[in-house]
Amino acid sequence: MNFKSTKLAFFSPTGTSSAIASAVAKGIGIKKIEIFDATRPEIRKKPLKTAADELLVVAVPVYAGRLPGVLDDWLELIKAEKSPAVCITLYGNRDFDDALLELKEKIKENGALPVACAAFIGEHSFSTAEFPVAVNRPDESDLAKAAEFGNQIKEKLESFDPSSCSDISVPGNTPYKERPPKAPLDFIAVNDDCIKCGVCADICPVEAISKENPSETDINKCIRCCACIKECPENVRSIKEGPILDISKRLNTNLKERKEPVFFF
Ligand SMILES: Cc1cc2nc3c(=O)[nH]c(=O)nc-3n(C[C@H](O)[C@H](O)[C@H](O)COP(=O)(O)O)c2cc1C
Repeated sequence: MNFKSTKLAFFSPTGTSSAIASAVAKGIGIKKIEIFDATRPEIRKKPLKTAADELLVVAVPVYAGRLPGVLDDWLELIKAEKSPAVCITLYGNRDFDDALLELKEKIKENGALPVACAAFIGEHSFSTAEFPVAVNRPDESDLAKAAEFGNQIKEKLESFDPSSCSDISVPGNTPYKERPPKAPLDFIAVNDDCIKCGVCADICPVEAISKENPSETDINKCIRCCACIKECPENVRSIKEGPILDISKRLNTNLKERKEPVFFF
């Protein structure tokens, strides 16, 4: 079957989900790629429709073994008319738990037909210079695997028949893991070298940072994605001593073993 375009949708505060999504789409090789970057709040408000002759690729990070709660409303806005779909989760070398299953089921509910699913590894959002976790992933090997995954999808799509598309089995349990209660946490330190350039405020996916005074983060909006820390051009933002840094230390100690991407067809 011939597909006229790939609709590539991702949420990716620190850029690992978007990097893998792009590499997979390249591997699939459909020339026209339309990007829906749901990291931007305005994109998360718009419906995303796909037709039967369009491929949907969705890539999102794992937060506490689940899909990030901030995506709940946006995922409802994806409507697919029996489009084949690729579901991808990115996790920080701990586990993806129920997130891939949750994504696949949600995409199915929305009318798409999942043809391939994968879990890739990205540098952990809480990784720091002192306590690195899956640092610099996806690396070259991960990107090569993403391209290979894309090639395998391309082959599967050549004989794709929507009327005989069987379900894909992926790890995960129902009911899904409980999301941790949303407890506001003041965990970002901003040092005096901040030049108030506003990059952090611009990239924050939930508009939690004041543009005039970037040292003010609205802890009720913050989803702890750490994009503002990782993307600060002056390197003035960091994780304060406290519960998040304790997680970084713990992950750094416990997750030395490299995990590898897994694919499901
Ligand atoms: C609040 C939060 C919770 C997370 N929970 C998990 C988790 O349960 N398992 C895991 O391996 N990584 C976890 N991570 C790490 C991210 O899944 C990982 O860094 C991912 O690559 C980030 O994607 P992005 O670069 O597209 O933002 C978590 C990150 C955040 C911010």
